[in-house]
Amino acid sequence: MSFDLVFFGGTGDLTWRKLMPALFQAFRHGKLPEGGRILAVARDDQTDERYREWLKERFREVDGAKRPTDEEFEKFGSLIHYRRMDLSQPEHYQGLKDWLDARNADTVVLYLATSPHLFTGICQQLGAVGLNHGKVRVVLEKPLGHDLASAQEINRAVRGVFAESQAFRIDHYLGKPSVQNLMALRFGNALFEPLWRRESIANIQITLAERLGVGTRGAFYDGTGALRDMIQNHALQLLTMIAMEPPSSNDADAIRDEKLKVLRSLKPFTAESVARDVVRGQYRAGSIEGKAVPGYLEEVKVPPESQCETFVALRTEINNWRWAGVPFYLRTGKRLAERDAQIVVNFRPVPHKIFAGGGQPNRLVIKLQPEDGLELQLLAQKGTGQGEQLTPVSLDLDFDKAFATQRVGAYERLLLDAIAGRLNLFVRSDEQEQAWRWVEPILNAWTADASGPRPYSAGSWGPAAASALVARDGFSWAEEQ
Ligand code: BG6
Repeated sequence: MSFDLVFFGGTGDLTWRKLMPALFQAFRHGKLPEGGRILAVARDDQTDERYREWLKERFREVDGAKRPTDEEFEKFGSLIHYRRMDLSQPEHYQGLKDWLDARNADTVVLYLATSPHLFTGICQQLGAVGLNHGKVRVVLEKPLGHDLASAQEINRAVRGVFAESQAFRIDHYLGKPSVQNLMALRFGNALFEPLWRRESIANIQITLAERLGVGTRGAFYDGTGALRDMIQNHALQLLTMIAMEPPSSNDADAIRDEKLKVLRSLKPFTAESVARDVVRGQYRAGSIEGKAVPGYLEEVKVPPESQCETFVALRTEINNWRWAGVPFYLRTGKRLAERDAQIVVNFRPVPHKIFAGGGQPNRLVIKLQPEDGLELQLLAQKGTGQGEQLTPVSLDLDFDKAFATQRVGAYERLLLDAIAGRLNLFVRSDEQEQAWRWVEPILNAWTADASGPRPYSAGSWGPAAASALVARDGFSWAEEQ
């Protein structure tokens, strides 16, 4: 199957930091279909050779094991082409179409790795020159809009030009191996499903914690904040995967229909419930792994009076038969104590205790990062003699060890899926809009409330109010137990 993959924003950070390295991994693993061409388009005037040289240099900044040798780059680089394009010029789109038509590959994937405010214009221009025919797929990178209205506007523009089946909206968390395993865990095994409901589960916690600060992305981040950057997309997508009903098949729309139902069942926020159930924070100077780090307001290109949140913790519920009354806690933040992405399913305690000790009920931890695995916490007796108390013990599954094979990274997986036309791990426009609809009252309440985010020290687990949010229900975050 021949394909042409075009990166708009070909010299941008996303392209060289994530997309090209992911494609190179696919190439190295022999997964990239033969007969592919990769075309980077950007404003600079340069040749294929100069672009390849530039990219080779950039690869030096990529994590060691993922870096190509000279020989590997020689082969991979030969697939890469460069084309200058001014995205506001209609004739440049015609030129691109002519270039693609001359080869007439089986599939054309157009990846918009540009700033989202360009999406509408690019789609319209692509449509105008007929680059929306049946072989074309368009991949849209987040953030898709900054609120419901702007997301709807982008989706309208995309729909005006492409069929929904041609639109691949990326949420790279859906490409992470452990997130795919969540589907396997729930719907490939009979063990958990009978317990996966309010009768057995006390609460569910989704934590996406980062140690990094905003680094050089201050200007972008300050107009975005943690709610838009992580909760509206990554955290809510994980929530849908954890909470959805079993889909009727593994088809993209069967899955996405179920995910949408979860988003529609989320308890809507009001100004009062935002004040009660959502905590926003902003990091101050502190220390990470023994090293002093600056506060958010001291970061490059961050306005000194910024009220942008770098941390969010919230409590929500899903109003349906399966989940009514079960708290779902979502939390994300920069400059936290650990780099740790995980979903913790806390089961209810036994109805009648006959053993001493073992205060901790069963817990299933789905680990996404840094390691990728499952941990099931049980209570057991050590067997050291009479009167012994129950002690927590865990069954640990490390997927890397269990499957001694090369696991595919998120962007690698998603790029290969886009080339192959598999939509399962991409977000449909109605899901995405529903997620904005749910998040918007929080944004509005914050705009109306001048008190701003609560400070927390870099290297901590966020403001104390985040612990209080969970403690109010008689629970605690996993690291506090
Ligand atoms: C991106 C956010 O979508 O996800 C970043 O824009 C964040 O702010 C990143 O750092 C986290 O992704 P990962 O895969 O490193 O957890």
